[in-house]
Amino acid sequence: MSNTANTDWFVHDRFGLFIHWGLYALPARHEWVKMRERITDEDYQKYFEHFDPDLYEPKEWARAAKNAGMKYAVITTKHHEGFCLWDSKLTDYKAPNTPAGRDLLRPFVEAFRDEGLKIGFYHSLIDWHHPEFTIDNIHPRRDDQEFREKAKDRDIRKYAEYLHGQTRELLTEYGQVDVMWFDFSYAEKGKDEWQSEKLMTMVRELMPGIIVNDRMGIGGDIKTPEQVQPREWVAVDGKPAVWEACQTLNGSWGYDRDNLDWKSVDMLVQMLVDTVSKGGNLLLNVGPTARGNFDPRAIETLSSIGEWMKLHHRSIYGASQSEFEAPRDCRLTQRGDRLYVHVFAWPFKHLHMDGLAGKVKYAQLLNDASEVRWSESQNAGTLTLNLPIQRPAVTVPVIELFLK
Ligand code: GLC
Repeated sequence: MSNTANTDWFVHDRFGLFIHWGLYALPARHEWVKMRERITDEDYQKYFEHFDPDLYEPKEWARAAKNAGMKYAVITTKHHEGFCLWDSKLTDYKAPNTPAGRDLLRPFVEAFRDEGLKIGFYHSLIDWHHPEFTIDNIHPRRDDQEFREKAKDRDIRKYAEYLHGQTRELLTEYGQVDVMWFDFSYAEKGKDEWQSEKLMTMVRELMPGIIVNDRMGIGGDIKTPEQVQPREWVAVDGKPAVWEACQTLNGSWGYDRDNLDWKSVDMLVQMLVDTVSKGGNLLLNVGPTARGNFDPRAIETLSSIGEWMKLHHRSIYGASQSEFEAPRDCRLTQRGDRLYVHVFAWPFKHLHMDGLAGKVKYAQLLNDASEVRWSESQNAGTLTLNLPIQRPAVTVPVIELFLK
């Protein structure tokens, strides 16, 4: 199958927003709550009946993302619970039939596009609500023998038809979609159950240039390591791949009220920098509440990341892994003849950079464009930057080197 994906914008833009929003925002106990707590469809129905996002203002979400320096956004059109945010003709299990009373995807797409962000659709391959989705060992009803018995005639091929039909809706009714993010394959279900080859062909036909992720069991255009920081550039068959780490703010994708594992802004900015220093993108998640707004902690975090990005985005957009080696406690990114040294632990006066003697014509702190002077040891090939005693008051200080 020919690969028509356009990844140029993607590797340039580097930083996106992931949104996990569905009925699981109401229990507010992680988006896998239905599976973890073995909840029946009947018992889960109360969330459908009470889903009333009266504060949903996607323009505010889009502004928050843009101000954080994010360039694209990927939203859950449907997660494993099966609930659809858009007005699908193929199911009643959708936002318009809840108290929300409308398609929630369209205003999202419009708002983010208006702010100039690219659009991605996350779509769950798994569906714990569909009547033809066969019961496997991650299904909420896995331990109910009676239910399993009743469900034994389910036909996954009929579910696949639904999956393909809904994907067609998503790629024909919302204009340009830049990323299709399917999730996921596992021991019991994969490319045969999803009919992935056929699905991929349809996606590429409907939306030439779209980027498709790698979770359908047949590879894809981008690798998507989840909740880990890879140690090096992610490879496929030994070759560097286009990759995107997806990360949470607190370990949960869906809104998780009592979760206190919030990452600090320092940690998140370091994660972004670390990712780009290894040639990757960062897709950072927010799980909006059931009222349709962002948790204050998420807003605060995005805005602080944005303060850093405003001063330092030159080291992120269009930048990638450097050909040079980073000094201890630093990460390098490079964009052509600009080399960016991100200093995670501020040293006393001197930062020694091997292999850079004779190669730099100017150096400055990126946050305030103040000159950084240096000395060189030609024999050792080391460039030694003279840093101020005071660490610049930014989340991660960056030194911009202009290479000869
Ligand atoms: C996972 C999870 C999930 C989350 C996602 C993001 O596979 O099932 O809840 O949506 O990946 O990467």
